[in-house]
Amino acid sequence: MRLVIFGPPGAGKGTIAGALTARWGIPHIATGDMLRAQVREGSELGRRAQDYMNAGELVPDDLILEMVRQRLGETGVGKGFILDGFPRTLAQAQALDGMIGGVEVVIDLEVPEHELVRRLSGRRVCPQCEAIYQVDTMPARTPGVCDRCGAQLVQRADDTPEAVRNRLVVYREQTAPVLAYYRERGLLRSLDGTRGSAAVVEDIAGALCPRDRQ
Ligand code: AP5
Repeated sequence: MRLVIFGPPGAGKGTIAGALTARWGIPHIATGDMLRAQVREGSELGRRAQDYMNAGELVPDDLILEMVRQRLGETGVGKGFILDGFPRTLAQAQALDGMIGGVEVVIDLEVPEHELVRRLSGRRVCPQCEAIYQVDTMPARTPGVCDRCGAQLVQRADDTPEAVRNRLVVYREQTAPVLAYYRERGLLRSLDGTRGSAAVVEDIAGALCPRDRQ
């Protein structure tokens, strides 16, 4: 299964991909998580990416493609993978076609903009294990503490109102055109992403792996 979870900032890509990867045991490859890890490590890539990320701009394609090529060249992707946050430009989508046979399905999570803003303003994340929470709808059991690993939860640097506004503009202008690319190739499936994440996960699992329906 070579799957892309697609959608605007806050659509639930990380939440849904995390649940599917726990269920299917295939790697969740999230370019945003990989970049944030590079920033935390203080690597050259992290230093070059940080300003773009904090402003809600896209990191240049050449940096992203080098990082993804390297990850897909590692072991553990033979049975498939779930891409989250990649591709998000036409150049990235075209480049992905040349990497290990491209992708088989692209799931687009449709969520209206007012709901994206609401979700992102209350998002908290674990800097250690990348678990994702929402203060109103998916709170941690102990406020501010990760259920999984006990680390202190944080707000992402790009979840400020100004950066969120810019990320939505960048999505409309640079990333949404990728949908047409996959639609033309018959790979796109759109889903209502406003329902609870468990229902969205069941829909995807049921559509792609009917024997896996719970
Ligand atoms: P990235 O980390 O990929 O951010 P994003 O695409 O903006 O997406 P988010 O992580 O904000 O949202 P999500 O859709 O994963 O939603 P989540 O599950 O967290 O990228 C960050 C930055 O890195 C980019 O801006 C760019 O600078 C750079 N970058 C990354 N990849 C790049 C690339 N390929 N090219 C160039 N630059 C790149 O959920 C959001 C909230 O909603 C959470 O609080 C969650 O609890 C809640 N929630 C989730 N599902 C539901 C639901 N069904 N109902 C109610 N609440 C829900």
